[in-house]
Amino acid sequence: MAQPTPSPFPLPGSAQRYGKVAVVMGGTSAEREVSLMSGGGVLEALLERGIDAHAFDPRDKPIQALRDEGFDRAFLILHGPFGEDGTLQGVLETMGLPYTGCGVMASAIGMDKLRSKLIWRGLGLPVPDFELLDDASDLDAVAARLGLPLFVKPNIEGSSIGVTKVKAVSELRAAYEEARRYDRVVLAEKFVGGGEYSVPILGDAVAGYVVLPAIKIEPATEFYDYQAKYFRDDTVYRCPCLSPEQAARIEPLIEKAFWAIGGRGWGRIDFLMDEAGEPYLLEANTAPGMTSHSLVPMGARAAGMSYEDVVLRILDTTL
Ligand SMILES: Nc1ncnc2c1ncn2[C@@H]1O[C@H](COP(=O)(O)OP(=O)(O)OP(=O)(O)O)[C@@H](O)[C@H]1O
Ligand SMILES: [Mg+2]
Repeated sequence: MAQPTPSPFPLPGSAQRYGKVAVVMGGTSAEREVSLMSGGGVLEALLERGIDAHAFDPRDKPIQALRDEGFDRAFLILHGPFGEDGTLQGVLETMGLPYTGCGVMASAIGMDKLRSKLIWRGLGLPVPDFELLDDASDLDAVAARLGLPLFVKPNIEGSSIGVTKVKAVSELRAAYEEARRYDRVVLAEKFVGGGEYSVPILGDAVAGYVVLPAIKIEPATEFYDYQAKYFRDDTVYRCPCLSPEQAARIEPLIEKAFWAIGGRGWGRIDFLMDEAGEPYLLEANTAPGMTSHSLVPMGARAAGMSYEDVVLRILDTTL
């Protein structure tokens, strides 16, 4: 496990070097409620460290109001379209306002499962075998090539919405149609069944990345679906969960995967393990949750960083 390098947490009095900080949270996406919970935690942490931080909800006012209200930087904690997909980042770039996390390109790629996989595969990084489905696909042939069970998912969506684990060829058409409701681009993906993991990462290509301890996700349901993510309390999260040998193999992979999409600031890379212990990259999250139960704070805690430490460290990347 990589030891995070000590971060220059502000000494008393130096909190003003951040100026006036907007915690941009809420918004209008389906993940508004999660964002408000995450943002509440971030705001409290910043205030606790003496920073002049304020909540800013783009549902209630135009994003340009950040300038009118004299903000010096933004801590972005919006999930889903507009907040996480590069569009908001583009607006902030044109305003010249520093913000936390990934820029326009990495945010957009991170949202797009197909493009993420193409980039990773192009670098020789492991991803599960996949195919694109359309109305004309020969579904029997797809199932024969990828094997069963397999996963069908919309390229862009999130929170496991529109995702189906297909166990019989006869279910494949319905699974395709379900995913197609959410996105024109639908993926069929080979099942990887040796465990699901998520790895928080901080930093950037210039200053260096810090890979935090991985979290193993053990849903009580068939897979980590919408219910398991947000409503059930029987999902088990294990952290730390990798042996030192496994961590030594996984950490460079996570770093490369985040670097490849142009990642900076902070994020989470999810991967699956097969029965033989081989990892396969699943997806990148460029605006992860920051509720007290979220995975980034969980990984940070295992590395000896408090919730406030990790929030400050993310904010530091805007200086
Ligand atoms: N190839 C696969 N093999 C095994 N399980 C999979 C596979 N693909 C997806 N899953 C399961 O389905 C869940 C959802 O899939 P995925 O992470 O690709 O989409 P998503 O969760 O909707 O996207 P986001 O994490 O951006 O919200 C995963 O967390 C995992 O439990
Ligand atoms: Mg996912």
